Amino acid sequence: MSTNEKSEQDWKSSVDSTIKRFPERKDSFTTSSNIEVDRLYYSEGENDSSDQLGFPGQYPYTRGIQPTMYRSRFWTMRQYAGFGSAEETNKRFRYLLDQGQTGLSVAFDLPTQIGYDSDDIMAEGEVGKVGVAIDSLHDMEQLLDQIPLDKVSTSMTINASASVLLCMYIAVGEKQGVPMEKLTGTIQNDILKEYIARGTYIYPPKPSMRLITNIFEYCQKNVPKFNTISISGYHIREAGSTAVQEAAFTIANGIAYVDAALESGLDVDTFAPRLAFFFNAHNNFFEEVAKFRAARRIWAKIMKEQYKAKDPKSWKMRFHTQTGGSTLTAQQPDNNIVRVTLQALAAVMGGTQSLHTNSRDEALSLPTEDSARIALRTQQIIANESGVADTIDPLGGSYYVEELTNVIEEQVQEYLERINEIGGAVQAVEEGYMQREIQQNAYETQKRIEKEEEVIVGLNKFKIDEEVNPDLLKVDEALESAQIKSIEVIRKNRDQESVDNTLAAIRKHVKTKDTNLIPFILDAVKAYATIGEICNVLRDEFGEYIGM
Ligand code: 3HC
Repeated sequence: MSTNEKSEQDWKSSVDSTIKRFPERKDSFTTSSNIEVDRLYYSEGENDSSDQLGFPGQYPYTRGIQPTMYRSRFWTMRQYAGFGSAEETNKRFRYLLDQGQTGLSVAFDLPTQIGYDSDDIMAEGEVGKVGVAIDSLHDMEQLLDQIPLDKVSTSMTINASASVLLCMYIAVGEKQGVPMEKLTGTIQNDILKEYIARGTYIYPPKPSMRLITNIFEYCQKNVPKFNTISISGYHIREAGSTAVQEAAFTIANGIAYVDAALESGLDVDTFAPRLAFFFNAHNNFFEEVAKFRAARRIWAKIMKEQYKAKDPKSWKMRFHTQTGGSTLTAQQPDNNIVRVTLQALAAVMGGTQSLHTNSRDEALSLPTEDSARIALRTQQIIANESGVADTIDPLGGSYYVEELTNVIEEQVQEYLERINEIGGAVQAVEEGYMQREIQQNAYETQKRIEKEEEVIVGLNKFKIDEEVNPDLLKVDEALESAQIKSIEVIRKNRDQESVDNTLAAIRKHVKTKDTNLIPFILDAVKAYATIGEICNVLRDEFGEYIGM
């Protein structure tokens, strides 16, 4: 039996076992002309393209990480949302779930992301602006009110203060009677891209990596269904990188996290299955599809061949995609619905596991309810009406897509070698290598747009005279004072002694490097210590990163 025939056999038996837990969505899939749509298209001959191509759910997963992909289960429709108070965001969450969204994704305001309470001078003017304000476990309880944590998986876009928000989530689960081993979701927990592109860091790299690997270790033992990191390329791309740089710098960061986890004494197969990724989807349709396929194949080879991971779950690159926020224009905002549709389609054709579609008005403000609904409907139409989810990796085998996948793989490898020569991602970040590469490309892109060499419809071509849309979402200015009052009430009603004791315990155990801090942070969270109080103890002990 040839390799190809063996792989084909293996794939078919994996399909049989998979559909027991994840039956396919329909008994048969047909086109509008009643033409049967096969599960997968591939050439049966010897040493044909499918030899390199492989099969879905099989190493190196070029065609997707699951044997049946979307024929069994659509990608998770997971809209990033959060603004104002916990109550307001809870309302938006429940609206989106009622409209058919299948996973939650929390946007936190900057004070929460950088570990300041809403009444901290550093929070002034930012409370509830770019996300929801969460100061204590009380706010988290409001945020997740009437949301069953044993049924809904929640992604939290939080990095420097991730340990605190994870503990708040665990504590709310306990209050709902959901044991932590049943909780599902993802904590972004990716500090390296914060230094590179996004900026919401607090501590220097080394102590930050300690907190990250503490989360790996704690979740592996206690919250096994939670994805402990979402290694993000999204923000790297938003900062102006190319698709190749996005994939390369994200994978380089992933390698740094694996090394840090191994150095902390963890075995690769105990944490790698819960590493997840987060990519962008920009406008060049085929490049984005090829980028996803190349990144998946590269990661599989790194984990199997370089790190000798034995568990196939350690080899699979599972990722979320968000369509490219920076591609949206303030001009003719309805045009953005078309951009987002094409970008979402690329993510689906690239095999994403979870997807956020941006709203048409996001170049102007946080999305209104109407815009957020249209964004969700975009995914639902692609899933249910376009037919692209009815066969696996439909672009697989295309001369263009396979060649582009190979070229992107080669160029990503070149970047990985360069970063390895520098001494790895942490060193490259500290030397500003990735930042410089990104800034150079951002500058060149901006020049091309200004010279109209790169057309952005409505922005530098096909322009119209237009009024800015009046009914944009506005965050109530009174929120900040209301949030400050709410913290005062929490501080007044809580048991101050247990707050003091739990904060003192964190301070004590920080000093012993190999102590996992999560259990102590969990105790402080349960005592209603605020995010600022907890993060300030860590600021005292770790110091603050002052950036490049
Ligand atoms: N066959 C077999 N099993 C299948 C299947 C199939 N076809 N489809 C799904 N499954 C299984 C999966 O294996 C999984 O089971 P397991 O956990 O036991 O393995 C389960 O069904 C759920 O499927 P997924 O894990 O694929 O889907 P999730 O949605 O749960 O997870 C993820 C996807 C990418 C792994 C996860 O990390 C995730 O949800 N990430 C989201 C991150 C996110 O939303 N980030 C937003 C950031 S916003 C931001 O930063 C931008 C701002 O800064 C501007």
